[in-house]
Amino acid sequence: MKNIKQCNIEFEPDGKKIAVHKGETILEAAARAGIIINTPCGGKGLCKKCIVELQPSRKRICACQYVIEEDLTVRIPVRSRFFEHKILTKGLDTELTCQPDVYKKYLASASEKIILGLAVDIGTTTVVVKLVDMISGRTLSTHAALNPQVKYGDNVISRISYADTQEKLTELHNLIIECIDNLTTSLCENAGCRPQDVFEVCAVGNTAMSHIFLKLPVQQLGIAPYTPAQYEACTKKPKEIPVAMNSAGSIHTPPNIAGFVGSDIIAVALAADIDGFSENSLIIDIGTNGELLMAKDNKIYAASCAAGPALEGAGISCGSRAAKGAIEAVYKNKNDIDFDVIGFVEPSSICGSGLLDAAALLADIGIIDSTGRFVEREKLVHLDEAIVSRVSKIDNQMVFLLAEKKGEKIYISQTDIRQIQLAKAAVRAGIYFLQQKLDVKENEIKHVYIAGAFGNYIRLESAQKIGLLPNVSGQVFHFIGNAASTGAQMMLLCSEYRKKAENLANRIEYVEIAYEKSFETVFAQSMAFRS
Ligand code: FES
Repeated sequence: MKNIKQCNIEFEPDGKKIAVHKGETILEAAARAGIIINTPCGGKGLCKKCIVELQPSRKRICACQYVIEEDLTVRIPVRSRFFEHKILTKGLDTELTCQPDVYKKYLASASEKIILGLAVDIGTTTVVVKLVDMISGRTLSTHAALNPQVKYGDNVISRISYADTQEKLTELHNLIIECIDNLTTSLCENAGCRPQDVFEVCAVGNTAMSHIFLKLPVQQLGIAPYTPAQYEACTKKPKEIPVAMNSAGSIHTPPNIAGFVGSDIIAVALAADIDGFSENSLIIDIGTNGELLMAKDNKIYAASCAAGPALEGAGISCGSRAAKGAIEAVYKNKNDIDFDVIGFVEPSSICGSGLLDAAALLADIGIIDSTGRFVEREKLVHLDEAIVSRVSKIDNQMVFLLAEKKGEKIYISQTDIRQIQLAKAAVRAGIYFLQQKLDVKENEIKHVYIAGAFGNYIRLESAQKIGLLPNVSGQVFHFIGNAASTGAQMMLLCSEYRKKAENLANRIEYVEIAYEKSFETVFAQSMAFRS
């Protein structure tokens, strides 16, 4: 007999069927079926990025707003899916400059002297866990997964606003613990050991992710002056933070610097050996929220910049994360444009690196002017007809068509160009104010360290052309991968690095760039494309 409180939902083209309670949204049902839908606005019905089609009527609705009252078949288009993008697990191969010593406190409790640890990097999108031999310092294995909290919003702000009650904060906390536990279980299986052999955990993340991991309130992080509930490093027991590990173990979280500059950037700074910098250096960790550090002599300043999700391909008309089918590179050929697609399949979207390439190319060949506006077709007489024919209007706005698949167009619109401009302006304004504080001219920046997945997939030339990154020689740039993970491992093993982290947190001066007098002028100037 059919349960009248339940409905059957089938998701296409996945062919997944699940029974759900009446009253759930399609967004929640899809998440339970293992399909994560984009939710830039955190399910508030504002962004229209979670559009799905009811079948067979093909009626388009917002998955986050549609409440299930009957059996349904729902098609989820590629564009609305949140893809597990290429997760970066590799970081710097940093030589430990001090001897592992944290393990010593467990020598009495560990059977057979197996003492393992976890270096955890909790990203808004991805979670990376390394299983480490605490005595030798060696990494045994690294696994990564999508942060399961993405079903409540794919950015920090949505998570903060979701966790507005203790119950919802606990829900987010439980999700991250479960995710770390699943990764730990598979890492231990791989290494032929047990979670009970894990005695120490060092977890880094942006301030909101660290707070949720520690079940600290996050609501105040969403309101100026964005004050963390806790700045200091802390050590907890597994009975307080129930990670799957030996009950005699400890969980360490390094200090935060500000509401949007967390322990992850301290881990990056340690891995890059910021203390050893003898020349003016800049560290950039660009995600939805960018974190910046600049060092000169003995001084270090930090800033955060709300780059938004555009650089990761989200919030863009045809954007997606770097997943199969996404255009990842765009370039000009003899008399038209060409592109590369991830997975060598028909293109279905465009990801961050493709977007930057396309924006740089459109600015370069004069399809958009230095203010970012599309130039009217009639004025593009200097260009080949094949390229000019790609400029048209969709929904009353100018677009540049990249590809067309079974009638579905993949394009970049005027609004998309504005999103890229806002993202690049946020990053450049952040860099500008750090330069101001330290009196460093652009050509005096001697090293630029780019951490995180973004740096590994962009083309430097395009990022510089659109003005996202400083216009200094390519040799100045160092792509340091998932340096947050490396830094977490350093602090996991050595008490000396923990002290250095605390010292850094005390030394780093935070600049709230939005409070700077000339912020609006600098931001507006940074929107321009170099002509
Ligand atoms: S409108 Fe549904 S997530 Fe934004």
